[in-house]
Amino acid sequence: MSSAPLRLAVLVGSTREGRFAPTVAGWIRDRAAARDDLGLDVDVVDLVETPLPTVFPAFGQPPAADTVALLAEVSPRLAAADAFVVVTPEYNHSFPAALKNAIDWHGPEWHAKPVGFVSYGGLSGGLRAVEQLRVVLAELHAVTVRDTVSFHGHWDKFDADGDAIDPAANAAADAMLDRLAWWAHALRDAKAARPYAA
Ligand SMILES: Cc1cc2nc3c(=O)[nH]c(=O)nc-3n(C[C@H](O)[C@H](O)[C@H](O)COP(=O)(O)O)c2cc1C
Repeated sequence: MSSAPLRLAVLVGSTREGRFAPTVAGWIRDRAAARDDLGLDVDVVDLVETPLPTVFPAFGQPPAADTVALLAEVSPRLAAADAFVVVTPEYNHSFPAALKNAIDWHGPEWHAKPVGFVSYGGLSGGLRAVEQLRVVLAELHAVTVRDTVSFHGHWDKFDADGDAIDPAANAAADAMLDRLAWWAHALRDAKAARPYAA
């Protein structure tokens, strides 16, 4: 069993100009980093910094040089992660296209790793995006965590410092992070004993 810190990648799913995402991502980043008992090494992967193209190369062909350069910025960080938290809003009852695109550019980076969710939106709190992401990520051999955090009508759910106003949100984050860390340890140990063959 490894005692190395768990590497947690927080993937920011919105790239929209004027987006709310940084507030939510910053909050869960700080909640995760504050969990000394879990020993998480947190890396925020913001897709706006690496705008991957939506045009894919033909099978067997390498991406264009500028795409290779973008992938070099993001892919190693996903590969290094032991666990993910996906921060997603809800767009038209689903997840943002930029998030799906980033997921699609990768494969083994997701294999046999746990994924937790922090979602936000209107009345549904982004939960429809989360449920659809579970289906997508199952195809990529990822393990999605049952417990989620969702902000329903997120606009007035954070104070000026970016803290969640409702203490229940902090409790939900802790529950999700507990489960995520359990799965991350279990899967990391299992993969060390027996490589995962996809
Ligand atoms: C294209 C688009 C579609 C949206 N569709 C929904 C929706 O189906 N359900 C919902 O609750 N909110 C919806 N919203 C509202 C977003 O959840 C809200 O604007 C949120 O702040 C978006 O996240 P962002 O600001 O980080 O991009 C939509 C927003 C956009 C831009």
